[in-house]
Amino acid sequence: MSSAPISAERVSVITGATSGIGRIAAAGLARRGDRVILIGRDPARGQASLAQLTAETGNPGLSFIAADLSSMAEVRRLADRLRADHPRIDLLVNNAGALFQLRQESAEGLELTFALNHLAYFLLSDLLLEPLRQSGAGRVVNVASTAHRGANLDFDDLQTTRGYSGWRAYQRSKLANILFTRAFAQRYAASGIVTACLHPGFVATRFGDANGGLFALALGAAKRLFAESAETGGQRLLFLATTPTLEPGGYYAKNALTNPSAAARSEASAERLWQISLDLTHPWREELGG
Ligand SMILES: NC(=O)c1ccc[n+]([C@@H]2O[C@H](COP(=O)([O-])OP(=O)(O)OC[C@H]3O[C@@H](n4cnc5c(N)ncnc54)[C@H](OP(=O)(O)O)[C@@H]3O)[C@@H](O)[C@H]2O)c1
Repeated sequence: MSSAPISAERVSVITGATSGIGRIAAAGLARRGDRVILIGRDPARGQASLAQLTAETGNPGLSFIAADLSSMAEVRRLADRLRADHPRIDLLVNNAGALFQLRQESAEGLELTFALNHLAYFLLSDLLLEPLRQSGAGRVVNVASTAHRGANLDFDDLQTTRGYSGWRAYQRSKLANILFTRAFAQRYAASGIVTACLHPGFVATRFGDANGGLFALALGAAKRLFAESAETGGQRLLFLATTPTLEPGGYYAKNALTNPSAAARSEASAERLWQISLDLTHPWREELGG
């Protein structure tokens, strides 16, 4: 187990902080006195969240940056700005994620689920390594899901060009989150950066609603019948962000270290995914100063 001293002036960056569990965790971090940088895609929702969270928590040290994290160019632009403004970052929460019922590619030619849910976690963490190292007790928390169970990565078709299903692509992306967490921890635990991931629970947020149609109707019914509150999921995320001790590379559910699926424990898959992710993000990692 590694431990991180908790300071009242931590600099915390949280993606997907404008809705759902990210917004609740951001509020908790703000109440602790962190300087919280909220990241979201929609500028209007971002500014509204910033105003509400500032009023709710009384913390004047909050800020918002808009970035569409399905674009690696935007991840790079965001990281450049964060590095310029914050030589030290104590906490990075990779939380922004979505399910796309229909297969779509970004302008960069990347399948959106893989780009937003996995490559953005990978690239943003990589680009912020230096400020996280400067913390001396940096922490990276990745929001995964129990949806990874039953999934396997198809290394010949990571971006699901064949037989796309939104749910399967989502499952694979959440498996990728757990593999990435373990590979990252192996590389950087020794430099003082603690990394872990979690399943926040099946919780009633806006998740999946943008898809519309039958899928959103069925998901809406499932949320009404079975989901826990967004508050519960957000508190679990806050727990991982703030608990003094975390198992490096660990997967948590209900605030307890839990075994993920066998596919998520494969060292070979974690390393293979790491190398492919390095190659795919290469154009946006070049000429990084500092
Ligand atoms: N809800 C669940 O039951 C559940 C279960 C397991 C895991 N999770 C995971 O929890 C995480 C958060 O989901 P949630 O349930 O809180 O969903 P949510 O209410 O839909 O919130 C998603 C957040 O991500 C942001 N986001 C979405 N697409 C983005 C993009 N392209 N670029 C930047 N930000 C983007 C959204 O910002 P905008 O509003 O600006 O678009 C919003 O702040 C996801 O990783 C999800 O996979 C959720």
